[in-house]
Amino acid sequence: MPNTCTGAPLDLCLAPLRGVTGESYRTVFCRHFGGLSRAMAPFIPTVRGVRIKPSLLAELRPDRNQALPLIPQVIGKDPGELTAMLGALRELGYGCADLNAGCPWPMVARKGRGAGLLADAELLRRMLEAGCAAMPGGFSIKVRLGLRTPDLLAQRMAVLNDYPLREVTIHPRTAQQMYEGRVDLQGFAACARLCRHPLVYNGDIRTAADGARLRACFPEIRGWMIGRGVLADPFLAERLRGETGARDVMRVRAFLDDLLAAACEESHGEKPVLGRVKELWGYLAPSFCRDGLLLKRIRLCHRVDEYRRTVDQLFARPPAWVEAADGLAGLAG
Ligand SMILES: Cc1cc2nc3c(=O)[nH]c(=O)nc-3n(C[C@H](O)[C@H](O)[C@H](O)COP(=O)(O)O)c2cc1C
Repeated sequence: MPNTCTGAPLDLCLAPLRGVTGESYRTVFCRHFGGLSRAMAPFIPTVRGVRIKPSLLAELRPDRNQALPLIPQVIGKDPGELTAMLGALRELGYGCADLNAGCPWPMVARKGRGAGLLADAELLRRMLEAGCAAMPGGFSIKVRLGLRTPDLLAQRMAVLNDYPLREVTIHPRTAQQMYEGRVDLQGFAACARLCRHPLVYNGDIRTAADGARLRACFPEIRGWMIGRGVLADPFLAERLRGETGARDVMRVRAFLDDLLAAACEESHGEKPVLGRVKELWGYLAPSFCRDGLLLKRIRLCHRVDEYRRTVDQLFARPPAWVEAADGLAGLAG
């Protein structure tokens, strides 16, 4: 399905959500749902020294990531460590990788990593220099509008423009906002005007109407990254491509069963298995229940068989789908 504004194919990238959109989520998702063009993996940290433990890269092994084209993401602030990590990713077979300059957690950003990289123009420059040299033609960056105020990225755009980046993904919030409050479409537009690289928009795309609105506002944008929207509504990528039929909730059930089976296979003990499915239900439950009771019931499960019974009960009479509110309603573009 082409982008309705430009006729170009619609590029839909699954956002990285550490702890949620790991390898098994991506693989199982693609068994049950369509619509995504690619995925960015949750970040891996750079490490001291030249030896990178294979376990750090296990989730990125190409043989375990056949379902979707994958872009690994790295977080760090040491250009030498970045070079070493990108070398390891190239050895694994990757031709592209992304630098996280958007992580807002104070523990990370205060130490100059994630969104904190935006505070130091000189360090940012050295990281981009190292990244572009170690991953020629395939290095990209994911950023926010700023730390406390939304004007910092616009100031740093001249630095970004000096390097041959493959693309820039912008989440138009400040680090202080974390993931809450309104996205700033005007701030995004200002940066888009300044940026010479292909851009990807990311933030609060929850419905097909959000997608249509953004494509109309920003016809020049080539890619759209979706995170929480697709966790809440796994049909979202298909719907952004024009699918309009009723959602078959039994597809969600089959997906959840598969995801549980994968979690049981990979995690040791009931607690981590339940932790993984509960994390996803935190996003998904509002699509089945308006009042929060379902999520409460799921969170109260202490054993996997208890969780299974709760899911069985929910789908015994297939629940009606609760449509998400538009993520971008009422925003000035
Ligand atoms: C729990 C959680 C984990 C995240 N992990 C990452 C990460 O590893 N790398 C990254 O660039 N962004 C990460 N993000 C940010 C998301 O990729 C995305 O930018 C954010 O959720 C906004 O997009 P959305 O509104 O489509 O969800 C994370 C967000 C959340 C809530």
